Amino acid sequence: MTKVDVTQKADIRCVLGAPGTGKSHYTKAEMAKAKRLLVWDLEDEYEHIDAVSVQQLPHRLHQAGAGGFKVRVIPSTDADKRQVEFDLVCRTIMAIGKITFVAEELRFVTQPSKAPAGWAAITLRGRKRGVKVIGTSQRPASIDKDFLGSATLIRCGALNYPEDRKAVAAVMGIDPADIEKLEGYQAILWTRTPRTIKQV
Ligand SMILES: Nc1ncnc2c1ncn2[C@@H]1O[C@H](COP(=O)(O)OP(=O)(O)O)[C@@H](O)[C@H]1O
Ligand SMILES: [Mg+2]
Repeated sequence: MTKVDVTQKADIRCVLGAPGTGKSHYTKAEMAKAKRLLVWDLEDEYEHIDAVSVQQLPHRLHQAGAGGFKVRVIPSTDADKRQVEFDLVCRTIMAIGKITFVAEELRFVTQPSKAPAGWAAITLRGRKRGVKVIGTSQRPASIDKDFLGSATLIRCGALNYPEDRKAVAAVMGIDPADIEKLEGYQAILWTRTPRTIKQV
């Protein structure tokens, strides 16, 4: 078990945008930097990474010891099963520690006022376990508010629905109209500390 490290900086990235706006493209570039990587691969798109079942995951990560690994879990298509799997994956991550966790399309496993316990633990206390998160969503108004509120970085591409633009603009402290103007792969990149905002 990794020790609790209170000196770690939080690294919670929220990657938002309508389908095709470059969420996975950005995520792939960022996760290439991780030495210990676990991907919740909802759409089975990270083919270059070893797929592990949820059942095998704890053993696989224990085997790695303090070393590096890159693995992915392909969730079940059954919503109830998927929910249980997600919680198990999150709890495993917290138990092992020092992991970059990529979670694709969070609205399938979290809701605005309901986050699975394991996921809530990652959001609130993952920093102390060296857990970094990159979570994506095409519908930010439909994912848990604590996650958006805890984000240290938000990359927001074009969003089609007013409620989504409003939810993100509120966290960034900008006008939703600034998000409405985005086209193609354009995005607004926001960081919490220091507070920065730029269009990329
Ligand atoms: N900044 C970019 N420049 C060039 N191509 C991009 C860029 N962002 C995404 N793409 C391409 O556009 C397509 C959709 O991007 P993707 O990241 O899968 O979108 P999303 O995950 O938001 O649905 C992919 O083929 C991807 O390679
Ligand atoms: Mg994608």
